[in-house]
Amino acid sequence: MGRKKIVVTGGAGYIGSHVAIALWQAGYEPIIIDNFSNSEHRIIDGIKSITGQDVVLHEGDCADQDFLIKVFEKEGVVVGAMHFAAFKAVGESFDKPLEYYHNNIGSLIFLIKAMQESQCRNLVFSSSATVYGEPDELPVTELSPQKLALSPYGNTKQICEKIIEDAAKSGMPLKSIALRYFNPIGAHPSALIGELPLGMPNNLVPVITQTAAGIREKLTVFGNDYDTPDKTCVRDYIDIMDLAEAHVDTLVYLERIKEDNCFDAINVGTGQGHSVAEVLEAFQRINNVKVNFVIGKRRFGDIAKLYANVKKAELVLGWKAKYTIEESLKNAWKWQLAL
Ligand code: UFG
Repeated sequence: MGRKKIVVTGGAGYIGSHVAIALWQAGYEPIIIDNFSNSEHRIIDGIKSITGQDVVLHEGDCADQDFLIKVFEKEGVVVGAMHFAAFKAVGESFDKPLEYYHNNIGSLIFLIKAMQESQCRNLVFSSSATVYGEPDELPVTELSPQKLALSPYGNTKQICEKIIEDAAKSGMPLKSIALRYFNPIGAHPSALIGELPLGMPNNLVPVITQTAAGIREKLTVFGNDYDTPDKTCVRDYIDIMDLAEAHVDTLVYLERIKEDNCFDAINVGTGQGHSVAEVLEAFQRINNVKVNFVIGKRRFGDIAKLYANVKKAELVLGWKAKYTIEESLKNAWKWQLAL
């Protein structure tokens, strides 16, 4: 029997590419859709090298309904879809809100419609801890009240989750789980794939690796006057390999459950908070490399602390993070050197 096909939108992106490999290794066949707006073909080559297989790739835009429908028609029986194709830069979303709403919300609706036409029922949605806004209590659980999202990007994730929930409630055959990622870091241990930030990276770890590599002169630590033990912001950094495994476990779970329609959301983090200063120290120590940094002002929209309660992932999916932050930072550096 052939492998079960899983559509992976944004499969050439940072998270999608690692998930495509995890799917292959779990016995599925990833069908990648990507428009390469925030990736490069070398990532596809990396996936091929790691799996030792050719990759099915449909190059195109998920905000194009006809294109998506044609992909599903061409592929025949598709068991599930994982939706990563979206804009993801928090800061940019303030400058280009319409593009963010159009792309992130439009592509989800088109994907669900294409899935329905081809009787594909299982959807794993790439969501974010940003849906919690600034929570009152930590660690944040899936039942924590959703506050105002802090950016147009965050709004799109809240709205997309709601759209999936309403679609499932309407009775259409759709089983879906939104995985709410905390802060994904690291790279595949082979250093054949990893994050490829185009231009100035937004996230902490790519800025650290680029500074260590001499691409950037220094890292600015955004604020050291927060209400945290060392006064820098605390986040829950989850390794990309662990995150990829969580997607496979979610798919297996969706395939197993009996309901025809359902929606749920699950946190994917480690449950541990690490400060910016701790990440910086761990990176330098584990890789034996120096990172120039200065203390700067707070970044607009940052909250002091955010980390996950991850009991639901363990209970429902049987999934738990395995990588230490040191391992993740080691792999991130290895990837930067490979670049
Ligand atoms: N930081 C710096 N200097 C930098 C970059 C980041 O000090 O140059 C700090 C930030 O102030 C923050 C921490 O590093 O305290 C992490 O920042 P990131 O930008 O890496 O991550 P965020 O927590 O801001 O954002 C992440 C995801 C978003 C998501 C959000 C949800 O990137 O997609 O978590 O909480 F919306």
